[in-house]
Amino acid sequence: MQEIKIVPNPNPQTKPNDSELGFGRYFTDHMFVMDYTEGIGWHDPSIIPYGPIPMEPTMMVFHYAQETFEGMKAYRHDNGEIMLFRPYMNAKRHNNSNTRLCIPTIPEDDYVYYVKEFVKYEQEWVPHLAETSLYIRPFVFATECGMGVHPAKTYKFMIVLSPSGSYYAEGVNPVKIMVEHEMVRAVVGGTGFTKCGGNYAGSILAQKKAEESGYSQVLWLDGVHRKYVEEVGAMNIMFKIDGEIITAPCEGSVLPGITRDSILHILRDWGYKATERLLSIDEIMEAARAGKLEEVFGTGTAAVISPVGELKYKDEVAVINNFQTGPLTQKLYDYLTGIQWGRVEDKYGWMYPVK
Ligand code: PLP
Ligand code: COI
Repeated sequence: MQEIKIVPNPNPQTKPNDSELGFGRYFTDHMFVMDYTEGIGWHDPSIIPYGPIPMEPTMMVFHYAQETFEGMKAYRHDNGEIMLFRPYMNAKRHNNSNTRLCIPTIPEDDYVYYVKEFVKYEQEWVPHLAETSLYIRPFVFATECGMGVHPAKTYKFMIVLSPSGSYYAEGVNPVKIMVEHEMVRAVVGGTGFTKCGGNYAGSILAQKKAEESGYSQVLWLDGVHRKYVEEVGAMNIMFKIDGEIITAPCEGSVLPGITRDSILHILRDWGYKATERLLSIDEIMEAARAGKLEEVFGTGTAAVISPVGELKYKDEVAVINNFQTGPLTQKLYDYLTGIQWGRVEDKYGWMYPVK
């Protein structure tokens, strides 16, 4: 890894109040930037004042969307330590996304080092209030100018930081999810397994439709049969049916969530049957009718563990656990966030100190 050049911000802002953060609305005083040039590689890592970046109308990212990103968090523990959660998983997934989008990869050790050093530099921005954290958004985009469709020869890797609270306005209360049965998010062979902006651009219309009907997010069905549940707009999703926890397999069209992986680990350790398999929406609605759909929850960095209180599929509505957070969902939330905020022993060695 290379030495990071630092340019302090001469005009630091007043920090927002921890109780009014919301998600992704405030940004810290600095940003991390590193350039890539074909023939040279990644160069000039710097921490500079947060602000506009140079751009031209013909930069390839604006036309062909060669862009990838990640999402992770830094947590403040009671003893003052600041911790990341499984950052090497993000580094690896970002590189998987980059490879699919034909973007040069960044060595994992360098990636984690730059994230850690940048968070350390901005550590005063890690909020103190319970359930808040510093959301970390690394992203890479093509900066070469031109209209030909081919891999760019220049890129920028950037990181911005956002002190944040809950992703959903509902906080940790149950959310309502609409099953999208017309539009699709991804197909195997496409980019569904990556975190690229294009996946999200294509999802916004369905998201808007769901919001207009009073739903928080969309549950996507598979792109071929429009039958098997895949994931939600910003999280993976798990269904507890008759004691078993079932989630979609990650076989190309679903983002392999780091929270998903962690929860599967914990559930199996706790002795639950946790299965990754194709699960049709008909099977879920049938289980709901039979009173066997016990709990539904989403998993994600921003969403944490998010109870689902209602699922709407075409004209049918399934209310889950009387729209109350289920006992397993609550137990998982308490345990995972306990590890993340240092209230529960980190027996898996998932926390990574920023020091
Ligand atoms: N699925 C999608 C589409 C997401 O945007 C996210 C958020 O990152 C997830 C799943 C959950 O992934 P993770 O747990 O790694 O944050
Ligand atoms: C995350 O949870 O980190 C995400 O990237 C979800 C995002 C779309 C808000």
